[in-house]
Amino acid sequence: MDQPNLIDYRLLVDNLTTAILLVDSNLNIFYLNSACETLFDISLLRASGTPVLNILHIPTDEFKTEEALNNTLNSGQPYTRREATINVNFKDIHVDYTVSQLNAGRPYHPLLLIELNPIDRMLKISREENFIQQHQVARQLIRGVAHEIKNPLGGIRGATQLLARSLDNPEYKEFTDIIISEVDRLRTLADSMLGSRQLPSYELVNIHEPLERVRSLIANQTKKKIKITRDYDLSLPEILADRDQLIQVMLNICANAVQAMTENKEFFVYHQPELILRTRIQRLFTINGVIHRSVIRIDIEDNGPGVPEDILESVFYPLVTSRAKGTGLGLSIAQNIIHQHNGMIACQSVPEKTVFSLYLPWESNHVAK
Ligand SMILES: Nc1ncnc2c1ncn2[C@@H]1O[C@H](COP(=O)(O)OP(=O)(O)OP(=O)(O)O)[C@@H](O)[C@H]1O
Ligand SMILES: [Mg+2]
Repeated sequence: MDQPNLIDYRLLVDNLTTAILLVDSNLNIFYLNSACETLFDISLLRASGTPVLNILHIPTDEFKTEEALNNTLNSGQPYTRREATINVNFKDIHVDYTVSQLNAGRPYHPLLLIELNPIDRMLKISREENFIQQHQVARQLIRGVAHEIKNPLGGIRGATQLLARSLDNPEYKEFTDIIISEVDRLRTLADSMLGSRQLPSYELVNIHEPLERVRSLIANQTKKKIKITRDYDLSLPEILADRDQLIQVMLNICANAVQAMTENKEFFVYHQPELILRTRIQRLFTINGVIHRSVIRIDIEDNGPGVPEDILESVFYPLVTSRAKGTGLGLSIAQNIIHQHNGMIACQSVPEKTVFSLYLPWESNHVAK
């Protein structure tokens, strides 16, 4: 076994789930670990050498951050700030952070070690867990209702056919035909409410393959009226997944985007409808309480009018729809399939930018439960 002193500590620091920042005596960023890169959505290369105050201090804050940092630098006295707002990439993030002096063998040029704990992320995680549980309860309820609707339909259909045969007046056939076609419509609806009865069959899939299938389907369907942009990270690892189910998920989400863009033509007076398909690796991501070192992220983005505000929070629930002809099942089925793959779908939406992100774990050795 390796001796502890042979461990590459940089590797250790980069695998921590706590965001760590090192700052030099001029209060410029010297180093940030992977968790910090993920939190700030910024690379070490871009961040290093920039003033840390740009991030840690916002003008509305009364706390004298510069003074406090210099004080720790000179005195070695650590301090902790709770529920501080910091600003990264024009985004506010709420964090608890601790600043301490790091005398890394350079007594005249000590560094500052800043450990950050995002509070938003904690809130987000507990909200996600809540959401997943609620979603499962809603799915079960829907399946129960669908079952009850479906049960008598076979009987109604059979009896109507018998009735149709015994009716002499052909005028009445019109009515029995209506009953049969409505029964068939209800059965199709109940079937999609029940979801797929087939068990997923997992195989190694390069997610670009189903994604490309969906892209060409959509391109054919929309006859080039919608610009489709691909932004793929082709180095992504393969994942164990049900390929056909992934296609169904991607298709449901792309279909929604296309519908939002084609059914709201008045929105596109000044710009061209565009669908962006993006794939990335996302480091340190929590899904249902499990922290994954890295997951695959697939973004399906459109520049349509956005998800109506009143349904944004409940958009993944079954039967939530804003479209007259929609059943409101597309996203609920998609979320269900991705849950079965131990992943999740998230949605962010403002006018001109709606992003549905699929997160799929690809490694079995997650960090912690
Ligand atoms: N890209 C998008 N832009 C704007 N709104 C969206 C987008 N994606 C989904 N929505 C909204 O979310 C609702 C629910 O979507 P979902 O796919 O679950 O059901 P649906 O499309 O209405 O019906 P179905 O897919 O069952 O035919 C839609 O009715 C729409 O209002
Ligand atoms: Mg849909």
